Amino acid sequence: MNGQCPIAVTVNGTRHERSVEPRLLLSDFLRHELGLTGTHVGCEHGVCGACTVLVDGAAVRACLIFAVQVDGQQVETVEGLASEGILHPIQQAFHDAHGLQCGFCTPGILMTLVPFLKEHPAPDEREIREAISGNLCRCTGYANIVKAVALAAARLSA
Ligand code: FES
Ligand code: FES
Repeated sequence: MNGQCPIAVTVNGTRHERSVEPRLLLSDFLRHELGLTGTHVGCEHGVCGACTVLVDGAAVRACLIFAVQVDGQQVETVEGLASEGILHPIQQAFHDAHGLQCGFCTPGILMTLVPFLKEHPAPDEREIREAISGNLCRCTGYANIVKAVALAAARLSA
């Protein structure tokens, strides 16, 4: 064999079959094999959170796992949040509350928040700050991100 491993992964509802090197990171698989460049790569060693995606509903750092590890699983990326041109409520709240500047950190923060807001429909500020503590933002100072999360939570539970 040529050292490639066959995998089948469902990403944002679409099944993809590929043969990949065992060492290929999930982040590189999404970006380079599938062209889903909304998953950003900052540090590539698990610190910045920019690469956060959902694997079977749980937020994980795509730079810390290999593509072969998600064989047979469901992956969701930021590209899957909007539906038919309508922003996901969390995306809309970030837009409305100016929760981003350059936007590099934003996909990872949004994907971190999807399961968080399901589990914490009415988070207080401390819980919000704790939830995004693993996502580094160089631009905003976090104040508007916290406001955006509170707005998203209020709208989602309205
Ligand atoms: S690129 Fe994955 S945590 Fe920074
Ligand atoms: S908005 Fe620029 S890194 Fe967060």
